[in-house]
Amino acid sequence: MCGIVGYVGGKSVESVLISGLKKLEYRGYDSAGIAVIDGGELSVRKAVGKIAELEKLLHNQPLGGTSGIAHTRWATHGEPSVINAHPHCNKEQTIAVVHNGIFENYNRLKAELLDDGFVFTSDTDTEVAPHLVEKYLNEGFSVEEAFVRMLRRLEGQYAIAMVCEQAPDRIFFARRGSPLVVARGKEEFMIASDLPALVPLAHEAIFLADEEWGFISPKEVQILRLNGGLAERSWQVVSICEEDIEKGPYPHRMLKEIHEQPEVVERILSKRLDDTFIHFPEMQMGKEYLARIGRILIQACGTSLNAGMIGRMYLEQFAHTSAETDYSSEWRYRNPLASGDSLVIGISQSGETADTLAGLREAKAKFLRVLCFLNNVHSTMAREADAIVELMAGPEIGVASTKAFTAQVLSLLLFALYVGSIKWLIPANERRQILNEVRQVPEKMRRILVNQTVIQEIAEFLKNKNDTLFLGRTYNFPMALEGALKLKEVSYIHASGYAGGEFKHGPLALVSENVPVVIIAPQGEIRSKMISNLKEAQSRGGKIISIVTEGDDEIKKESHYAIEIPPCPESLSPLLVALPLQLLAYYTAVARGCDVDRPRNLAKSVTVE
Ligand code: AGP
Repeated sequence: MCGIVGYVGGKSVESVLISGLKKLEYRGYDSAGIAVIDGGELSVRKAVGKIAELEKLLHNQPLGGTSGIAHTRWATHGEPSVINAHPHCNKEQTIAVVHNGIFENYNRLKAELLDDGFVFTSDTDTEVAPHLVEKYLNEGFSVEEAFVRMLRRLEGQYAIAMVCEQAPDRIFFARRGSPLVVARGKEEFMIASDLPALVPLAHEAIFLADEEWGFISPKEVQILRLNGGLAERSWQVVSICEEDIEKGPYPHRMLKEIHEQPEVVERILSKRLDDTFIHFPEMQMGKEYLARIGRILIQACGTSLNAGMIGRMYLEQFAHTSAETDYSSEWRYRNPLASGDSLVIGISQSGETADTLAGLREAKAKFLRVLCFLNNVHSTMAREADAIVELMAGPEIGVASTKAFTAQVLSLLLFALYVGSIKWLIPANERRQILNEVRQVPEKMRRILVNQTVIQEIAEFLKNKNDTLFLGRTYNFPMALEGALKLKEVSYIHASGYAGGEFKHGPLALVSENVPVVIIAPQGEIRSKMISNLKEAQSRGGKIISIVTEGDDEIKKESHYAIEIPPCPESLSPLLVALPLQLLAYYTAVARGCDVDRPRNLAKSVTVE
């Protein structure tokens, strides 16, 4: 939510900042702005809407300079408007600040500053920051001291960057709760909310920890602790390249990321499996401990929670461990009972989701151990968890999570098999059999991806509907939730997912000719029960879209449309079912003219409660 970028160096500041903002646009796209210092003078440009609007403005009113900061906004305090767009300045426009997060005490600070005679122009919480810095400068403090004094007054969370005419070569920055990375390239330094924004310029990076602040200038970087002293940090080599974050030949990132899934599965399998066993080298959790766990509590949000629901079934089936799932936002407030032998698993693509993070902190406060399944291993969750499992999906930029989801499901499956094996619950030959099936998943995914014609036809049929229902059972109940979430998220068609067995307990009342029903019914034990659901919907006029195993003519005959997936064991079917559901959402959104990679009102990483 909100993206920050800053640059000092010899390149065109405006171009570097705009290129960085475009790569951060997934964090918010309500408005954007830029502030640069040119010849000791601060200039600001802001525009409502996407980065392209700011680019247009800069085309007519270009900016020079050697240092600058920029921001793309996901509105929290104050409507999307030029006035509320960042950067925010003091009255004389000598100080400019960009911010990601929320200053929870801004009302109190604002009242104090108004009393002191400061004039506010926006409705944002952020505007208190430049006024506070000005106040301390007026009291005779240096820019560094004023910046630190301002930080010490703030409650809540932030990643923040500031430029000031009094220190024209420097960009000041700080972090508490929201991500910020500092990087160096060739005689240049930069900062951003996320590393991809700085590719390909960044060669080495430092991911800031909470309560760290500092500045970059053309020649140096300083990172300090807010409570005093230098922060001892070392540079890490940047390994992502432009290809990882660009759309490539695809019209949208979502489609590119859907197509990357076979590779993601191959990557995970090649890192985790050898001929004899499953490996989690990065997971600092002893086998003795894992074998003794009495109960696992999984918590996450959105798509990651849907993956967690499948993970719960894997843990029950393969590790014989009692497992539960919950929304992080509920778990943290309902004072859950948990004893010492319970492990809490957090699942997150970004590792920055505020609700999940708060839930995990709650778990740690209860002295529970926390294991996180994370795609972003430089994230806050990675730092705070007792141990992590790396998802290895590669940077996921599309707001709709796709490849991170399949990476989560697969990693949870391998983890459950690993725990089951160290508890001596799964005979080696049974494990080998499942893993042989898993090894065939990438090839089967590719088979689904080469034939998208029927899915495009269904998208044309769905594009004028207002409501849809998704039904599945056992492993595919979470897939019904995920299919519905994907469709509403990118196409804005209302969609709800239900457990097949619950259908007749209420949702059936919704079925009519205008409410299509997606029936997820691959081969396996629950197929016949899904046929009952199909009949229930069909006899009330519902148009059936089914997802079935190749050659399932019985269900195909009863369906208005059918999408086939290759045969696989029921427990692995979510890994294949995910693809047609993602494609269905994608093509429906495209058919409706929606901005697939930037769905309205959403941001990729939800860093506020
Ligand atoms: C999924 O398509 C969504 N964009 C959203 O539900 C997401 O999964 C959720 O916000 C959790 O994010 P995380 O995995 O980064 O924690």
